[in-house]
Amino acid sequence: MTFLKYDITWRGCGIMTDIAFRSLNGLWSVDQLTVEAISELVRRARAFRADHAHGIPSVKLLQGWTVALAFFEPSTRTRLSFQTALLRGGADVLDLDVARSSVQKGENIEETLATLSALAVDLVIVRTRDEDIAAYREALGGTPLINAGFGRREHPTQALGDVLTLYDAWGTLEGKVIGILGDIRHSRVAGSHLRLLPRLGARVVIGGPEDLLDRPHDPLSENIKRLPVDALVKEVDALIVLRLQKERLSEAILQRTREGDLAPQQYLQAYGLNERRWQTMRSERVVLHPGPVWPDGEIARSLLKEPSVLVRKQVTDGMWMRLALLTWLKEQWSCESAHSMSVDQAFKTLDPSLNMSV
Ligand code: NCD
Repeated sequence: MTFLKYDITWRGCGIMTDIAFRSLNGLWSVDQLTVEAISELVRRARAFRADHAHGIPSVKLLQGWTVALAFFEPSTRTRLSFQTALLRGGADVLDLDVARSSVQKGENIEETLATLSALAVDLVIVRTRDEDIAAYREALGGTPLINAGFGRREHPTQALGDVLTLYDAWGTLEGKVIGILGDIRHSRVAGSHLRLLPRLGARVVIGGPEDLLDRPHDPLSENIKRLPVDALVKEVDALIVLRLQKERLSEAILQRTREGDLAPQQYLQAYGLNERRWQTMRSERVVLHPGPVWPDGEIARSLLKEPSVLVRKQVTDGMWMRLALLTWLKEQWSCESAHSMSVDQAFKTLDPSLNMSV
């Protein structure tokens, strides 16, 4: 077991494992992370978790950072998870209360983000219903952003936390079959998993209501294998069940949540993980759900206490993974500034005339 306190907490700037995050101004897609970077995040999250389990106080690797949480859509797990991670790491946290902000006077998201940037925060963690990442980055100028859920697009930190949960279950994702069940079309969690899991060696299959499987905004999803729900549940090593995203459904589909196949009495039988399907699953399977769960809709309430239904563990792992990500990004960014400073200084040493303009 790795303990962060006794491990190398500062790995130095010589072994930067990934692309230049500062110039990209943050993390909005799992595509930005190399497989090596993900392994490092898993290692680090486990070390933080082990420290905590052994009563070793958190190393304050985020000290000196002021970080703003800007959640324009409701959230319990993700917001509190980021907040807990930031506090454990010693950062100062600014939690924008949208209900009491000028958003209520009609101010748009871009202007709100530009205001946070003008307050000179070091990082903004953003959740929005809209998906205009380019506009948010522009509004933030040079201030980095972490995606805490962009509309239907991606939710990278949820997927990274789930990856830790899955690595804990098996040690590797190589050759594992992972099923994603439910409203794939509107789920940003699915958006990140469909990108991330195959790169880690897993085979992904999807199932759910026929017209909620396509992701027209996301061409990557076109080639993913689809299975009828009964077959999918039987075949997989892990099942990631998704929430029906009622807030993103068209009026025609919403109608079905009142009296059609998506209504409470129908959904569990037609598409959910019910007792009958549970009995047909592999004995070593695990079940994940990012929450909030619709009990007796997406998963039978009676199954939620089963040891292999890992909904609570996902919350814990997500928090350690966010702490890992935040500390890692802070290191990446300070290495980059250290690097540019030394290049600058080297120039000054070579050509004394450059010093004149300073
Ligand atoms: C997810 C989200 O908001 O995207 N939840 C979460 O962040 N834990 C999933 C969902 O709400 O369906």
